[in-house]
Amino acid sequence: MTLTEAIEKRISCRAYTDMPLDPSVFEELSELSETLSREGEIRIVLVGPADGGADLKLNGRMFSGTISTYAALIGPDDDLTREKAGFFGEKLVLHATQLGLGTCWVAGTFDRSSVTLPLAEGEVLHDVIPMGNMPSKQPFAQRTIRAGLRRRNKKPEAMFKGDGSLSSAPSWIRAGIDAVIKGPSAVNEQPVVFAWEQGVLHATLPYLKRNIEYTDLGIAKLHFQIAAQEAGISGTWEWGNQGAFLIKEQA
Ligand SMILES: Cc1cc2nc3c(=O)[nH]c(=O)nc-3n(C[C@H](O)[C@H](O)[C@H](O)COP(=O)(O)O)c2cc1C
Repeated sequence: MTLTEAIEKRISCRAYTDMPLDPSVFEELSELSETLSREGEIRIVLVGPADGGADLKLNGRMFSGTISTYAALIGPDDDLTREKAGFFGEKLVLHATQLGLGTCWVAGTFDRSSVTLPLAEGEVLHDVIPMGNMPSKQPFAQRTIRAGLRRRNKKPEAMFKGDGSLSSAPSWIRAGIDAVIKGPSAVNEQPVVFAWEQGVLHATLPYLKRNIEYTDLGIAKLHFQIAAQEAGISGTWEWGNQGAFLIKEQA
């Protein structure tokens, strides 16, 4: 499964089976978490059954089944860390999707006291991402929760600002925004607006309610970058609100 296919396939999975992760799959995701932690200079810790993964208490009205593995995203309480948690955490999510697992970003609807990982001074637990095997079909309750949230999907035009309309912008921008809309965002706000001015694209957050929008920003930048690359434009993002998309010279 390619990363583009993983973006298509991923959903916020709120129902899991009782079958724990295969140990080799857990090992693979654990190693990837360590690599991403080094790359992003944040802490992504994979917690399995033996280290208290099964103790994670998600809100029982929203989630069903047995959670035995989750990723904990830990770091300083600042916006750069929130953004990096989004970017690097979503890399882990897409890889887990490629391995056939269900995942869900969870920042609010869980009992924080059920996460007993030690935190260093100045660190906070930003989010958890349960990872597990999915039933062949999501139960009615979980499908209803998701459909209710996705009903508010933004239109691509609402996520674009430029001298002309989105339809007159380069096709890789349209592809990037489509991949962002398919991505997760806290309460499906999809707050990022892509501003295309004088041949430079910036990823912007026009408003902040709880600063979790920075995590959405990191996720959006990753999805955009993957789709743009698929459309023939390779680039990387500057960090931060208003960060520019730096296009690599074509060979
Ligand atoms: C940073 C972040 C935090 C989230 N927190 C929660 C949460 O606390 N509880 C929950 O059920 N879903 C949570 N979600 C999942 C979103 O509700 C979901 O991504 C959105 O509704 C879009 O649906 P989809 O991911 O199935 O496409 C969160 C997503 C993100 C990106």
